[in-house]
Amino acid sequence: MCSLVLFILLLESTCCHAVRHTNIVIVGGFGDLAKKYLWSGALNLFVNNHNENATISFYGAARVSVEDGTKILHNILESVQCETKDNSCMKLRPAFLARSHYVLLKTKDHYQAFCGTLYSLSIESSVSMRNIFYLSVPSSSYEDVAKLIKENCNFSSTQIVLEKPFGLDKSSAVKQVNNIGKFFVSDEVWRVDHYLAKSVTKQILKFREVNRGELEKLLNNQYVDRVEVVMKERIGVSGRVDFYDQTGVIRDVMQNHLTELLALVTMELPGNVSDSRAVEQSKLAVLHRVASVDSKAVVTGQYRKYLAEAKEELVNTNQSHMTPTFAAALLHIQKLRWQNVPLIIMSGKHMDERSSYVRILFREKDFCVSGCADGNSTFMKYPRQMVFQISHGSVPSAGILVSRSLFTPKWPSGMKDLPMTSKDSLIHGQSPGDFYYGVPVNDLPAYFTVMSDLYHNVRETFVTAERLLTLWDIWDQSVQSSSLVIPRLYKEYDASSLNFSVEGFKLEFIEKEIRVYLESGEMSKQSIIPPEFRNSTLHVTEINKLIQILCDDIFEIATEAIRERGNFHIAFSGGQTAVNFFEKLAKEYPQFPWQHTHIWQVDERCVPYSTTESNFFSLHEHLIKFVDIPYFNVHPMPVNLGGKTCDISSRADTVYENEIVSLISGLKYDFIVLGLGTDAHVASLFPNSIHLHDNERLVSYSSAPEGFQTQARMTVLPTLVNHAHNVGILVTGHNKHEILHAISELTMKNEKYPVTFIAPVNGTLVWYVDFNAWLGSTGNAD
Ligand SMILES: *[C@@H]1O[C@H](CO)[C@@H](O)[C@H](O)[C@H]1NC(C)=O
Ligand SMILES: *[C@@H]1O[C@H](CO)[C@@H](O)[C@H](O)[C@H]1NC(C)=O
Ligand SMILES: *[C@@H]1O[C@H](CO)[C@@H](O)[C@H](O)[C@H]1NC(C)=O
Ligand SMILES: *[C@@H]1O[C@H](CO)[C@@H](O)[C@H](O)[C@H]1NC(C)=O
Ligand SMILES: *[C@@H]1O[C@H](CO)[C@@H](O)[C@H](O)[C@H]1NC(C)=O
Ligand SMILES: *[C@@H]1O[C@H](CO)[C@@H](O)[C@H](O)[C@H]1NC(C)=O
Ligand SMILES: *[C@@H]1O[C@H](CO)[C@@H](O)[C@H](O)[C@H]1NC(C)=O
Ligand SMILES: *[C@@H]1O[C@H](CO)[C@@H](O)[C@H](O)[C@H]1NC(C)=O
Repeated sequence: MCSLVLFILLLESTCCHAVRHTNIVIVGGFGDLAKKYLWSGALNLFVNNHNENATISFYGAARVSVEDGTKILHNILESVQCETKDNSCMKLRPAFLARSHYVLLKTKDHYQAFCGTLYSLSIESSVSMRNIFYLSVPSSSYEDVAKLIKENCNFSSTQIVLEKPFGLDKSSAVKQVNNIGKFFVSDEVWRVDHYLAKSVTKQILKFREVNRGELEKLLNNQYVDRVEVVMKERIGVSGRVDFYDQTGVIRDVMQNHLTELLALVTMELPGNVSDSRAVEQSKLAVLHRVASVDSKAVVTGQYRKYLAEAKEELVNTNQSHMTPTFAAALLHIQKLRWQNVPLIIMSGKHMDERSSYVRILFREKDFCVSGCADGNSTFMKYPRQMVFQISHGSVPSAGILVSRSLFTPKWPSGMKDLPMTSKDSLIHGQSPGDFYYGVPVNDLPAYFTVMSDLYHNVRETFVTAERLLTLWDIWDQSVQSSSLVIPRLYKEYDASSLNFSVEGFKLEFIEKEIRVYLESGEMSKQSIIPPEFRNSTLHVTEINKLIQILCDDIFEIATEAIRERGNFHIAFSGGQTAVNFFEKLAKEYPQFPWQHTHIWQVDERCVPYSTTESNFFSLHEHLIKFVDIPYFNVHPMPVNLGGKTCDISSRADTVYENEIVSLISGLKYDFIVLGLGTDAHVASLFPNSIHLHDNERLVSYSSAPEGFQTQARMTVLPTLVNHAHNVGILVTGHNKHEILHAISELTMKNEKYPVTFIAPVNGTLVWYVDFNAWLGSTGNAD
C-alpha cells in the first residue's frame, strides 16, 4: 500500500520531459533543524531550480506512522512561506507542496521498499536519478542510517549530507569518518558547515580576488597587527543544555565555523577562486600550518545561570560546571607570511551584543613628524582595518568594511557599494563614515545556500574529511585541556570580567581570579581579583604565598633604601598574623641587611615587655632574637618608662616621637606594616578615636574600647603613617571578610573606619590579603 502511493507520486514527478530527477530525502524531517531551516531551503531550491528538464521531489522521513507523519509534515510545510511576496515563489509553492511527501523510514524493510520504488522508477522512466539523503538526526545514528541507506538504496548516484557534531575530539572524529567511510566514499559524503554558506563568507575569496593587487601585499606579517575571529551571541543555551553540556563553545563554533573563517582570510589565494579543488588545497595548506592550540593560549568562561539551567534540564550534571560557554584562544600560523601575527578566535553565549566577524587590524607603519597636532593627524588616530561582518553587529546589514585610510576596495559582482549609516557613533572603534562598505546583492539565509550548493555540487561550502581532521588537529589538545579547567563565571550580558590580554604565545584574563575548593573537590567559591583595592595595589593569595610576597617586598625595599639613604626604617604592628611573617623574615632571608635596619613599633599595649600580651615581646621572640641587628637599632615603644606602664606624667609618647624625629629623615619610614581589625582599626586607632584627627602629634597614648585585652595603649598617628614611603596592610582570616567588603567602596575618611585615614601622601599603599579574608567563610564573594 505504502509503496503503491509512492509509485504514483513518483510517476507524476518524473514526467516525460524530465531529463534529470533529484530526490531529496530529509531523514529526521520533523526535527528542529528541518523545521527551522531545511524546509524553507527546500522551497527556495525548488522555486529556483525545478523546471521541465530537471525535476525535484522532497521526502520528509521519520519514524511515525504514515498517517501521523503525513499530518505532521503537512503542518510543518504550511508554515514554510515564501521569503518575499515574489511572484514566482508564490506561484510555485503549491507545486512544491505537491512534491513533498512523508515517508516512514524506521526499519530495513521501510528503506528497502522506499528505495526499491525509487530504483524501479528510474529504470522505467529512464531519467538519470540522483538521491540526496540529508541526515538531520543525532550524530550517534549516522552509522546505522548510512548502513541502511547503503544496503537498501544502492543507486549509482547517492549523496549523504551530515550536520555537526563531527566528533567531540580528533579520535571520535576519525571514528565517525571511518564509520561513514565503510558505506560511502568521500565524494559522496557532504558535511555541512552553514557558516561557509553565509552570504558574506561566500564573498571573502571573491573580494580578495578582485582586490588582489592592493590587498595581497598587505595581508602578511609586515602589515597585519592581528586578526580577530569573533562570534558573540546574546542568547544562552537554556532549552539545549542537553546538547551543549557535552559540547561547549570550543567544539560548538570555534573548531569549525570560526577556524574556517580564519582559513579564508589567511590562505594563499589560489589562481582561480572558483576552482573548488584549488580552494580546498590552499585551505588545507594553511590549516596544516596552524599550530595546535595549547592550554596557555586559551581562556574559558561560563555564564552564571548555566549550572542552574543544567540542573533543570539534565539528570547528570557532574561535568556541567566544566562546560565553557565562552572561550578565547590565540592561534599562530607557522609560515613566514603570518609569522608572529596573533590570530584570536573568540566566542561566547550571553554576551553584551550579537555580532560575528573577522577583523583584520593593520599596523601603523607611518609616523607623523610634522603637522600632527591639528588637522591632519587622522591617519594616526584611527585603526586601519578590514572587517568581514558575517552577521549582526552595529552595521545596517552583514557586509565588508574597509577603513578609508587603508585602500579603496573594488566589489566583486555579487556585492554592491552602500553608504554606511549606523545608529552607533563607532563601529569597531571607527566612525561609520570612515569606512568603505559593501554588502552582498542577495543576502540569502545560509540554508538556502546550503541546499542550493548541495544541488549544484558547490563543494567548497562543505567540509571534507581531510579538512575536518586537520581542524581537529588544531583544537584537539585544547578541548582536552579545557575540560580540566573550571571556566570563569561571568554575568549574563556583561563580559567585562572576561577582558584578556595577549603576549607572545600566551593569552590571559586581565583580572585575576581565585577559587577555593572544598575537600570533596567541589568548588565552593570563586572570585575575581581586581588589580586594585581602594585605588591601591592588591595582592590576594593563599596565606603562605602572601607572607612570602610581603617579605619579598620588604627585602627589596630595604635593599633599595639602604643603597639610597644608608639605612632602612621599618615599623611593625603586633597581632597573631605578624608572628608567621616575623619568623619567615628572620629565617628565610639570610641576606637581609639587618646591620642597617631600624626596627620600630606601630603600637604597643601598656604591659611589661616580658608578658605575652606585649607586642614587643612577640617581636623579640619571633624576629629580633634570631637576627643580627645592633641593639641601638631596635626601638620599642617606651610604655614602661620610669618603671611604670604608660604613666601619663612620664610623657613616653613624646619620648618616642622625639626619637623618631631625631633618627628618621623627613619623618618618612621606609616601610610600615599595619594589620586590620574586624572593626577597621589600624595600629591602636579605634573607631571614633579623637586621635584620628590629631595632625600635630606623631605618637600618642590611646585606648581600646571595652572588651579589648589591655585597654591602655600607645600608637602612631595617621599623620606619621601617611608620611611613609611604603605602607602595607596585612589582612588575614575569614573574620576580616566583612570589614574588607564594608570599606571597599568608602571613598571619604570615616571615623567609624579608622583604616580610611591611611592614605600615604607621597608613598605607596599595598594591601596584602589572604584567600580567607577575601572570600569569607560563607556567602558569595564575587
Ligand atoms: C529544457 O531543455 C530544452 C532542450 O534542451 C531546452 O530547449 C529548454 O530551454 C530547457 N528548459 C529549461 C528551463 O532549461
Ligand atoms: C550495489 O550495486 C553494485 C552494482 O551497481 C553492486 O556491485 C554492489 O554489490 C551493490 N551493493 C550492495 C550493498 O547491494
Ligand atoms: C575557474 O574554475 C571554474 C570551476 O572549475 C571554471 O569553470 C573556470 O573556467 C575557471 N576559470 C579560469 C579562468 O580558469
Ligand atoms: C556523578 O557524581 C556522583 C557523586 O560523585 C556519583 O555518585 C555518580 O555516579 C556520578 N554520575 C555519573 C553518571 O558519573
Ligand atoms: C594627511 O596625511 C596623509 C598621510 O600622510 C597624506 O596622504 C595627506 O596628503 C595629508 N593631507 C593633508 C591635507 O596634508
Ligand atoms: C574591559 O574592557 C572594556 C573596553 O575597554 C572596558 O570598558 C571595561 O572597563 C573593561 N573591564 C574591566 C573589568 O577592566
Ligand atoms: C579611587 O579613585 C577614583 C578616581 O580618582 C575616585 O573617584 C575614588 O573615590 C577613589 N576611591 C577611593 C577608595 O579612594
Ligand atoms: C614626593 O616624592 C618626590 C620624590 O621622592 C619628591 O620629589 C616630592 O617633593 C615629594 N612630595 C611631597 C609632597 O612630599
